[in-house]
Amino acid sequence: DWTMGNFLMEKEVEIRQLVDGKKAICALSGGVDSSVAAVLVHNAIGDNLTCIFVDNGLLRKGEREKVEQTFRDNFHIPLIVVDAKDRFLKALKGVTDPEKKRKIIGNLFIEIFEEEAKKIPDVEFLVQGTLYPDVIESVSVKGPSAVIKTHHNVGGLPEKMNLKLIEPLRELFKDEVRELGKELGLPEEIVYRQPFPGPGLAIRIIGEVNEEDLNILREADAIVVEEIKKAGLYRQLWQSFAVLLPVQTVGVMGDYRTYEKVIAVRAVESVDGMTADWARLPYELLDRIMRRIINEVKGVNRVVYDITSKPPGTIEWE
Ligand code: XMP
Repeated sequence: DWTMGNFLMEKEVEIRQLVDGKKAICALSGGVDSSVAAVLVHNAIGDNLTCIFVDNGLLRKGEREKVEQTFRDNFHIPLIVVDAKDRFLKALKGVTDPEKKRKIIGNLFIEIFEEEAKKIPDVEFLVQGTLYPDVIESVSVKGPSAVIKTHHNVGGLPEKMNLKLIEPLRELFKDEVRELGKELGLPEEIVYRQPFPGPGLAIRIIGEVNEEDLNILREADAIVVEEIKKAGLYRQLWQSFAVLLPVQTVGVMGDYRTYEKVIAVRAVESVDGMTADWARLPYELLDRIMRRIINEVKGVNRVVYDITSKPPGTIEWE
């Protein structure tokens, strides 16, 4: 009969036999799926697995450190962290079109991942955290999200690089993957993480992306997530985050007139991201978020709450 324990044991044996002492790599994003896949495969084949984490400079506050701490320090999985911040920022310079941003980021990711993979001798396998809904996505996903998933699950990598795929989560749904994650000892912070788009903060800075705005958005976003977690709402929300708008508005600070940027707070409930309802967050919580952002984030003097559902809106602003 089917239990998590049995599933893990069988998968590990199966993967160990398949890999047979050869080498595998894994593109680690820090999300639930790639994290669970990485730990599972590491249990099966040990240090024949190398994980590659690309820091594209578009990550949230503390994200890279959390990944390093979890996988390198706690799980002792060989981990290559590529600091590619400058390359991504350079490639994104002057780009404002959302789809162009996505393309640039997706292509550069593949380029960098390949460069790193080539440095590891005799790699034959690529581990991917593909879930059952991804497998059937062609029928279940319509619209822009179809494009999305290919980036997210780094589609195109295996063909181009001539690697054989290992997809240990292919038969599973998200909630089962979370169960596995807990069973494998992954921290709750990773197991219950809300979805985060592959292009990262680049599609939450409306317009051109630059380092200064990334820093502003990172601080504001951290406040939103921290307050949502403190209020005990993080797990029941599909996503909750901050967006930085490319407009400045007038405000007052003491005796001074300010002219600074606007943060939009976005929080939605959803089952699969295909449709979503804006979350009826308590006013007190919104108030705390507003106060903290204005007081703690330099360069922002106004906070608005997005009350658009999907459809007609999308969850992200770009
Ligand atoms: P939208 O904004 O289309 O988002 O309502 C639906 C879900 O998909 C995520 N999303 C992305 N994920 N690459 C990704 O990996 C992308 O380019 C991308 N765009 C949107 C979004 O965060 C939401 O969960």
